[in-house]
Parts: sequence; C-alpha cells; structure tokens
Amino acid sequence: MTNGISKLLLALILAGGGVTGIGLGLKAQAGLKARAVDMATASKPAETAGSDSQSVDQAKLVGEAKALIKQFAGKLKGELVAAMKADGPAAAVGVCQAAAPTVTEEVNANAKGWKIGRTALKLRNPENKPDAFELKVLQEFEKQRANGADPKKLAYKEIVNVDGKRVFRFMKAIPTGKVCLNCHGTEIKDDVRAQLKDLYPEDQATGFKIGDIRGAFTLSRPLD
Ligand code: HEC
Repeated sequence: MTNGISKLLLALILAGGGVTGIGLGLKAQAGLKARAVDMATASKPAETAGSDSQSVDQAKLVGEAKALIKQFAGKLKGELVAAMKADGPAAAVGVCQAAAPTVTEEVNANAKGWKIGRTALKLRNPENKPDAFELKVLQEFEKQRANGADPKKLAYKEIVNVDGKRVFRFMKAIPTGKVCLNCHGTEIKDDVRAQLKDLYPEDQATGFKIGDIRGAFTLSRPLD
C-alpha cells in the first residue's frame, strides 16, 4: 500500500516536466520520506494542497521558475563555453569563479520577487551550501536517480511556511554532461586540478560521471 503510493508519488514527480502537485507545511519536513508516508495517510497533506491550490496558481509559478532557470543556465553556460574556447579549462576555472556570482546577481536583479541560485550535496563553492529543505530535496533526487529516474526530469515544488508566511520553492536537478567533466569529473588535468586546489581548497565537486546529478537550481518566491 505505502509502496504503491510511493511509486505513484515518484510517477507524479517524473510526469509533466517533473513536478508534483503536493504542498506541505514545513512542520512536516522531518524528511521527504516522511512526506511520502504522509501521502499514504492522505488527509493532512490533501488539505494543505487544497488550500494552496485554491489561492495560488502553481502552474504559473512553475512556468516562471523554469523560464528563470533557462535564462540563468544559458548565461552560465555561455560564460563557461566562451572561457573554455578562449583559454582552455584551467583558465576557465578562474572565469567561472568570477562569473558565477555575477551572473547569479544579474539574474536575481531582474527576477521580480524570485530568488535563484545553485546548490549541491558535494560543493565547490561553500556559498552554495544547501539549507535543510534543499538538502532533503537533493537527497530525494539522488534516491530517485538510484532508482533509475532520468536526472533531466527531476524537479520538485512545494509551498512552505516561513514565519507564518507562504513561500513557493522549486528545485530542478542539474545533470552532469560531458563538458562538465573537465572540472567536475574523475580525470581532471593537472593544471585544472592545481587551479581548483588554489581557488577552492575545500572542493568536493569532483569525481562525477556523465548522467550523475551535479546539483540543482533552487528558487524561491514569497507568496504573502
Ligand atoms: C572550467 C571549469 C568548470 C567546468 C567545465 C564546469 N564547472 Fe561547474 N563549477 C566550476 C567552478 C569554478 C564552480 C564554483 C563557482 C562559484 O564560485 O560559484 C562551479 C560550480 C558549479 C555548481 C554550483 C555548486 C557548487 O558546487 O558550488 C554547479 C551546480 C556546477 N558547477 C555544475 C556544472 C555543470 C553542470 C557543468 C557542465 C555543464 C559544469 N559545472 C562545468 C567550474 C567548472
């Protein structure tokens, strides 16, 4: 029974651009696992989801979030590819370090109420450290990936309560592609490795393979 519903939940997450229609209060955040269990017992989350969906157009919010991600990812990748082509991956590490925060600020400045960033379980820049919500979602993404989910389709949304105010949160997994391996892979060239060690002495973001989840885009928007 519980298992069946967990599977349904997974299917929901994977469906339609990968977004569930489930809203749950923060107090239920003992873990997404607990959320899945709550789903099985049904009544409470259904109520919460009901009140959320009455007043909030979640499909519209998801559309906005996805558009922002597209813009943000496009700019980041643009900077990355240009730097790699111009001077190779070792020099591009420094460009990435300088450009990532600037691009993030730029996109945020035009994001009208939204906040967007990147986070990961294995971090390069400690500034990107996940909060409790992000940590649980990242772990859930990993679990689903281990169960065969396509990381390109993993996304999660929820309306959470922060100090009595509703906040819409959205996360989308970032898969590791071939170009990423230059700086996040298992066989990193010596000059790149030296550069990474210099700029990120605590770097944990290597050892990835194609198709691994490198991290996630994370967005939030206050609703009240
Ligand atoms: C030229 C080296 C380089 C390449 C190639 C590269 N990255 Fe990174 N990546 C970095 C650096 C440097 C940072 C830290 C940026 C910062 O300081 O914010 C970073 C940070 C990140 C982060 C933020 C989380 C964290 O660990 O701080 C994600 C997510 C990420 N990279 C994903 C990717 C993906 C996906 C690709 C392939 C499309 C990729 N990277 C390719 C160098 C690279």
